Formats: sequence, structure tokens, C-alpha cells
Amino acid sequence: RKPIRVALLGCGTVGTEVVRLLTDQAADLTARTGAPLELAGIAVRKPNKHREVPADLLTTDAEALVASDVDVVVEVIGGIEPSRTLLLGALRAGKSVVTANKALLAEHSAELFEAADGSGADLYFEAAVAGAIPLLRPLRESLAGDRITRVMGIVNGTTNFILSGMDSTGASYAETLEEATRLGYAEADPTADVDGFDAASKAAILASLAFHTRVTAADVHREGIAAVSAADIAAARGLGRTVKLLAICERVTGEDGQESVAVRVHPAMIPRSHPLAGVSAAFNAVFVEADAAGEMMFYGQGAGGAPTASAVVGDLVAVARNLVHSGRGPRESAYAALPVRPMGQT
Ligand code: NDP
Ligand code: HSE
Repeated sequence: RKPIRVALLGCGTVGTEVVRLLTDQAADLTARTGAPLELAGIAVRKPNKHREVPADLLTTDAEALVASDVDVVVEVIGGIEPSRTLLLGALRAGKSVVTANKALLAEHSAELFEAADGSGADLYFEAAVAGAIPLLRPLRESLAGDRITRVMGIVNGTTNFILSGMDSTGASYAETLEEATRLGYAEADPTADVDGFDAASKAAILASLAFHTRVTAADVHREGIAAVSAADIAAARGLGRTVKLLAICERVTGEDGQESVAVRVHPAMIPRSHPLAGVSAAFNAVFVEADAAGEMMFYGQGAGGAPTASAVVGDLVAVARNLVHSGRGPRESAYAALPVRPMGQT
């Protein structure tokens, strides 16, 4: 089958790792999807700084790249514009989209889904919430037969890195934020992390999927961690507690018996014995409660280039399978690559 041509928009912390995975895993990805995934071009702002990718793939004209002969657009630029316009253009032209852009999804998912529905293109965004952790597909697909009542957890790696650093080593807020930025966890503007905007966007996406409704970032009550001091953290420790930035999405019933959705993000003191208290560094953890399934917890790396690229490329494989197999899943050949070693043989 002819290659699936991929336009990559952005080649920063996440984009660089997407290129690495597509290159290193090329043969396996071809086996899993049934067609080679071919990078058709990479849009960036400053091509000269990108020595790590083939120069002939780089362009500053993202619009022309999206309009060219590509099947899938992967967006890892971030922010609202030009990402919104580029992705709407792709979807309206029937090109499937994979994005890690929670800020965009939390504000503009209605028009993005409308564009996708109109053309039949796919819109996947697993990386937008909780980095590498498979969370959105389980909410959207595996739990679609159940009634979810609550989604609650730590969904911002940067603030968790800061809070757990201040708690465990007594490092300062400024030091830990600088380190989180150096490690590629923080947003281009880290106030999005520390003021809770990033977690609020993610909470809006989680609530929309969990409760099958449309929640935007503006619907989320938001408090960040900027006001959390070393003294607050020491006081919490004295009480056998620790401070975490939580996102909480709940189904609530009012006095009139009317059910609605309430979504909030704020720092909270939790007992050190609580499973979320042990979630350190840039890890994320999310509890989901559903009527039939009961309680479950999703845990893993919530930020960083490689973990996020894992989710992006996973989505790319899903889109490619849909293109190759019309959504009927991988062929048997996808399972035939590695031999099985008999027990006891080294
Ligand atoms: P970076 O800031 O590291 O990279 C952004 C990239 O986009 C850069 O390569 C930049 O080009 C390029 N770019 C910016 N503006 C334009 C433009 N107008 N046209 C073309 N290219 C442009 O961001 P990240 O990789 O960290 O994040 C990307 C997305 O992934 C964001 O939506 C973020 O929220 C999301 N995300 C990030 C995670 C993380 O841990 N970092 C985790 C989960 C999601 P140049 O390099 O030339 O400046
Ligand atoms: N800035 C985000 C975080 C990246 O720290 O969680 C992952 O979405």
C-alpha cells in the first residue's frame, strides 16, 4: 500500500520525539498499520535551529504543508492560533488530525468536531491530557457503556513536580519551576501551568468525555499554585498531609433533583496515606468512578517529550489503521514480527 503521508506541525519538546519514534520504529509501525508512515514535512518557526531533522523536510509555511498532498496532520505547536485555523483547514479537507493541544481543545472542540464530522476525518488527542497515560480512549470507548460519576486526580506534571520537590527536598518554588522548564514539562508560557489554566483545560476535556457533554475551560473553577508557600507545605506536613493540585469533575444533583456537571481545579491538602500523595515528579494519576465498573486509577508519566510522543504516535497508528483497514483494526501480520522464546531458553 502507498505510504500514509504525515504533516508534522511543530518540532519542539514533543515534535522532536515524534520524529524520533517515527524514525526508530518505522518498520514496526508499518507492520502495525499496514502502510509506511512517511513524514511529508515539518513546520517550524526557525528552521536553522533544527539540526536534528532532515533539512529538506523543514518549512515555515505550515498552511502550504497542510494543503499539500498529506493524509494526516499532527499538531504539536500549541496555543490557539495558528493551530485552530490550520486544523480546521485540515479537517474540512478530510485530512485526519492528531493533536496534543489541550488549550485549543478546551476552547474550540465544538467547531473542530463539527469540521471532522462534516468530512469524515478522524480527530484524536490522547496526548492532550496526562501525557503518556491511556486515559481519553478508555473514557471515550471502553467506559462508554457505563455511567461515570467522577473523574479526579493530578493532571499537570509541572505543578506536581514543583509541589513534590518543595515537599520532599525543600527546594524553592523558583528552582523547581526552572527545572521543570528545563526538562520540557512546562508550557511555553509556564503561567499556564502554575495558574491552573493547563489543568483547567484538561479537566474540561475529561469532563466532556466522561459525561458526554460539552465543557469548556471557561466552565471550570480554577485556582493555581502560585499562592502555595513553603510554609503551607510545611504546615501540611505537620498535619500528616501534602499539597497537590487536583482536577475534580463530578456529576452532581441539585436540590431540585436536576443533575449537572461541576468541574474545578485547585490545590488541596490530602493525607499522606492517600494514593495521590505518592504521585511525585511529573507523574499524573487520575481516579475514575463509574456505576458498574467501580473505581479505577490511571497512573504514569504526565509530561515530557518522549512520554507525550508515545501517545501522539499511538493516535497516529489509530488514524493510519482507520485509513488502511477502514476502522476494522490491524491485520494478523501486526502480531507476527517477534518470535516467542520457549520457556527456559536464554
Ligand atoms: P515547544 O514550545 O517545545 O514546541 C513548539 C513547536 O512549535 C516549536 O518547534 C516551534 O518552532 C513550533 N511553532 C511555534 N509556532 C509555530 C508556527 N506559527 N508555525 C510553525 N511552527 C510553530 O512545545 P511542546 O513540544 O512542549 O508542546 C507542543 C504541544 O504539546 C502543546 O500544545 C503542549 O501543550 C502539548 N503538550 C506538551 C507536553 C510536554 O510535556 N511538553 C505534554 C503534553 C502536551 P521553533 O522550534 O522553530 O520555535
Ligand atoms: N505542561 C504540561 C504539564 C505538559 O506540566 O502537565 C503536559 O500536558
